[in-house]
Amino acid sequence: MDIRITNQAVKDVPCDALVVGAAYKQVGQQTGALVLAGAARDVDNLLGGLIHSIYAGGEFKGERGELLTLHPMDKLAAKRIVIVGLGSQEQIDSQVIRRASATAARHLQQTGAHQIALAIQPEEFDLEESVRAEIEGALLGLYTFKKYKQSGVNGQGITSISLLAGTANRAALDQAREHGVVLAEATNLARDLVNEPPNVLTPSELANRAGAMAGQFGLECEVLDRPRMQELGMGGLLAVAQGSAAPPKFIILRYRGAPQSKEMGIALVGKGITFDSGGLSLKTAEQMQNMKTDMAGAAAVVGAMYAIAALKPAINVTALVPATENMPGGTAYRPGDILRLMNGKTIEIVNTDAEGRLVLADALSYAVEEGLSPIIDVATLTGGIVIALGSVMSGLFCNDQALSNEIITAGQVAGEKFWPMPLDQEYEEEIQSDVADLTQTGGRAASSAKAAKILEHFVGDAQWAHLDIAGTAYIDNKKPYQEKGATGVAVRTLAEFVLRRAR
Ligand code: BES
Ligand code: MN
Ligand code: ZN
Repeated sequence: MDIRITNQAVKDVPCDALVVGAAYKQVGQQTGALVLAGAARDVDNLLGGLIHSIYAGGEFKGERGELLTLHPMDKLAAKRIVIVGLGSQEQIDSQVIRRASATAARHLQQTGAHQIALAIQPEEFDLEESVRAEIEGALLGLYTFKKYKQSGVNGQGITSISLLAGTANRAALDQAREHGVVLAEATNLARDLVNEPPNVLTPSELANRAGAMAGQFGLECEVLDRPRMQELGMGGLLAVAQGSAAPPKFIILRYRGAPQSKEMGIALVGKGITFDSGGLSLKTAEQMQNMKTDMAGAAAVVGAMYAIAALKPAINVTALVPATENMPGGTAYRPGDILRLMNGKTIEIVNTDAEGRLVLADALSYAVEEGLSPIIDVATLTGGIVIALGSVMSGLFCNDQALSNEIITAGQVAGEKFWPMPLDQEYEEEIQSDVADLTQTGGRAASSAKAAKILEHFVGDAQWAHLDIAGTAYIDNKKPYQEKGATGVAVRTLAEFVLRRAR
């Protein structure tokens, strides 16, 4: 994909389609005048006020995601003009632009365009932020996962994207372009990892892919095998892995952007269950259907490390991924087992399907031993968070208010929503066991909070946040701006968080 910034005039951009944005002024509850920003206004003028008259006729309302295609014939160098709705002018943010760009790009991909130009930026909106959002949106929208379909790709699809930037500061725009490209690529890398079928993406293959990515950037990659896990006392990861024929891997990626610093840096921990059958507490066929996505936390941290390695912030970051399958079998761990985890705490197994907290507990302990802080873990941890927040928001559990705010802000910049959830002391009573230090589950009520409370036992004194992405990592139905399947959620928020910390 060729992505470039151009200062050509709206009239002169040779392309299959030029995309411009249109919003409206909200007057009370009523929709008022059409608002055309720079490029859209130029198009309207070149076409003799055509967009305004179409709007007046009610054919195009400027609602978010709405598309209108015009054929300018010879009046512009572009073969097609696509006007994308941005909704109410006052409510435009970078996420509105990201989705508008994605929707338009997907539509053009499906209707035979190859070379497209984007000039969606609304008036009074920061051009760099807009360029970044347009690029991210287009690349995220164009993402597909068709590698196993023989008839998957017909034609070349979209091969080039030009961004109209007028006469603005070029160096800043080039940086915005790079930022957008990298964050989209990082997200799409995570989506690829999640979309890969579980027979291909085993723990070993996940380690291979992480290692290949590390090799590309000169990141340090270390993969711990079972004997080393035994030495370290990773009783949670080992127990979950013991029912599977595939060996577990503990994957470590190290980025040193501040080699002189005494701070060990940030830990990003990702749940890496490459397939969650539930183990002996077997899931139903329906519940099991998409359980290849149970490594979406791992994919998110690998994707974030890609972005960090490419954008090179001056800060140290370590990614930790406990990777295994959760399978039933003659050697599987059982309800009733008592495990000793890496920090010495014991836990009574109640339901082998609550495997995520066990592998995360060991990874969190490892992060604490390494002296890493803050620690942010990302996991498709609980069905409860799906019920609570659906696919719109991820749950955020955090033991530090400032860190929580930082993550929410990073999410807003990245276009991802995190909702604060409680780590209240009273939940502690419900994770007590008669026979061990902890019980593995405290029942269905507030299951997401209780899972988080269990994790809290393994973070020592570190600043820590836990992102429960069980509802947001995968969508079952495509959206106008997004392919069905993995979303790559949390990649951009984590990358943005790290970049902002380094500033
Ligand atoms: N991986 C699942 C959580 C999940 C559910 C992810 C739906 C994505 C979509 C997790 O390992 C799990 O099975 N959690 C159970 C635990 C319960 C048995 C205590 C849950 O939350 O239902
Ligand atoms: Mn499970
Ligand atoms: Zn799971």
